[in-house]
Amino acid sequence: MNKTIEQNIQELREKLAHHNHLYYVESNPQLSDYDYDMMMKELQVLENQHPDFFDPNSPTQRVGSDINKEFEQVQHKYDMLSLSNTYNEGELRDFDQRVKKLISEDPIYVCELKFDGTAIGITYENGVFKQAVTRGDGAFGDDVSNNVRTIKSIPLKLKGNDFPEEFEIRGEIFMSKKVFADLNEQRVSAGEAAYINPRNTASGSLKLQNSAEVSKRRLDCYLYYMLGENLPEDSHTENLKNAKKWGFKISEHGKIAKNIDEVLEYIKYWEKQREQLPYDIDGIVIKVDSLSKQKQLGFTAKSPRWAISYKFLAERVATKLLSIDYQVGRTGAITPVANLKPVFIAGTTVKRATLHNADQIELLDVRIDDTVFVEKGGEIIPKVVGVDKDARAESSQKVVYITQCPECGSKLIREEDEAKHYCPNEYACPPQIKGKIEHFISRKAMNIDGIGAETIDLLFEKNMLSDISDLYELKKDQLMPLERMGEKSADNIIKGVQESKSVPFYKLLYALGIRYVGATVAKKLAVSVGNIDALANAKVEELIEIDEIGERIAETVVEYFNLERNRVLIEKLKQHGLSFINEESEEGKTDILKGLSIVISGVFEKYSRDELKEMISKNGGKNTSSISKKTDYVLAGDKMGPSKLEKANKLGLKIITEDDFLQMIGL
Ligand code: IVH
Repeated sequence: MNKTIEQNIQELREKLAHHNHLYYVESNPQLSDYDYDMMMKELQVLENQHPDFFDPNSPTQRVGSDINKEFEQVQHKYDMLSLSNTYNEGELRDFDQRVKKLISEDPIYVCELKFDGTAIGITYENGVFKQAVTRGDGAFGDDVSNNVRTIKSIPLKLKGNDFPEEFEIRGEIFMSKKVFADLNEQRVSAGEAAYINPRNTASGSLKLQNSAEVSKRRLDCYLYYMLGENLPEDSHTENLKNAKKWGFKISEHGKIAKNIDEVLEYIKYWEKQREQLPYDIDGIVIKVDSLSKQKQLGFTAKSPRWAISYKFLAERVATKLLSIDYQVGRTGAITPVANLKPVFIAGTTVKRATLHNADQIELLDVRIDDTVFVEKGGEIIPKVVGVDKDARAESSQKVVYITQCPECGSKLIREEDEAKHYCPNEYACPPQIKGKIEHFISRKAMNIDGIGAETIDLLFEKNMLSDISDLYELKKDQLMPLERMGEKSADNIIKGVQESKSVPFYKLLYALGIRYVGATVAKKLAVSVGNIDALANAKVEELIEIDEIGERIAETVVEYFNLERNRVLIEKLKQHGLSFINEESEEGKTDILKGLSIVISGVFEKYSRDELKEMISKNGGKNTSSISKKTDYVLAGDKMGPSKLEKANKLGLKIITEDDFLQMIGL
């Protein structure tokens, strides 16, 4: 029997949802990424051809859209209250006593991890994701459904058929430590400020207006609380077991405790073990397991009487602030760093801690010789979080923030919307020069083995290295006489430098260290523009036409190439034989589309949009993102946006199909 298209679409959706669950919830993928992508493509094509069967909960919709709209405020069906907190055993025992008195029996508790993210309430109707709302003020929250749909561990359609017709499930959206570290690595390599911690980054990400951007943030979600009129069981734990069956991600670490001593054991265990978890927790939540007992206990105005959270104290110690150093980064950003009397925190000895910026120093009113409190939170770098003002000497003086660069003496600047001061002396301030060279040789850039920060310091001091092009002038017999430099190390340096000449253009472009041009942006620019001369001559308007290149990046790139010294530097690097052409785009290059400006819109059958873009540029054409009088062709696939179509028709532009295009370039 022939399957109908609708059946086919339905089947693909189910299969994809199943494999998505295996991958994101159970961490047990049973399909290769490739096969998954192919299945997804197949579904995308069918859905595009048959828009009647559109479903906002289809797995294809998880990629997000870039429609920009404010969030709608919606009222919670059940107020979204928070929990009362305790920090010690005594208060926890008081809680236990109160519960016992109110229900006149010994309760069964369940202990859970307190995930450190941002709370979400998700409603399901007939097993289908309906709406996701943030806590907001507890009564009203933001409808962030489109963003939450992009979180792969949240099911859009439930498995089985024994779920209540309507219910809400609440949980915590968070960012894992690894995803957070990766994201920060990318930001720092693009010269952007690192995010502070996974919690703020997760809640910030959830509020982004562009859900396609949210999708890239790889957020995750544990669910821990079900609400509804007809929940299957009277036990919270049993309900969560059901939720797990329906496809939700439920923590494996929840545990029944028969009395408060067992609760305390659980707390002690996780106080130690929490560092090992791949995500941050900030405490333990203790709940009465029986829903009928929960009902009996009820709520105060602010929080349930049937639950409490035990919060871990971030390990915080007091020590003496000896002095403040001001560090100058590769981009010239100044970071004040506290030199401390060494102190042991969370497993390591800490001698230095960040003070972030001038505002933070002002806010804390830290002074030299103060007793300060230092914390190692979710962040890797310890920070000064407070001052013991009672222990302060009367004679102490307010810290006066520096006005000149501690390294080169230039007057510092501070831009209006930036928290940090900057040293503007980009090309003559030693740590900025050395920082640029360090970036240039780093693994993801030119990957020059054999040279480290110490060698760069040494070569800089000896006047043998004043910018990246000097690396290519180094000679073995110059290096040999240097301290701690054997023949082998000298050989290694020369070899590493030589080998770097064959690094592809996109890595070289990243290595130049242009602000905001991180590894991903560099690759985009290299592939779309093709070579350094074209890039150096590109205008802001041209650059912003490239996918994912915004105005800020475009302006910085243009500024970089406007500087004579940068052009001279690139000329020198060219002389040394570095590769400034995107090799891949060199093979099979033609002029067939020379001078033609082509807009791509919709979804295609044979090639992806990125592949089509590459074909346009390989054949000498220009891919632009918006339709204008200057557009020569609109390459239209299925589901082309109606406004684009209207505009194209109005301007009388030539609209071509994928096949027409392939024919044009002889494929
Ligand atoms: S239960 C009625 N369980 O901590 C409150 N909350 O201040 C029910 N949280 O708003 C909340 N992990 O954002 C619960 N296992 C867990 C939790 C948890 C983290 C958060 C949640 C809540 C806040 C309590």
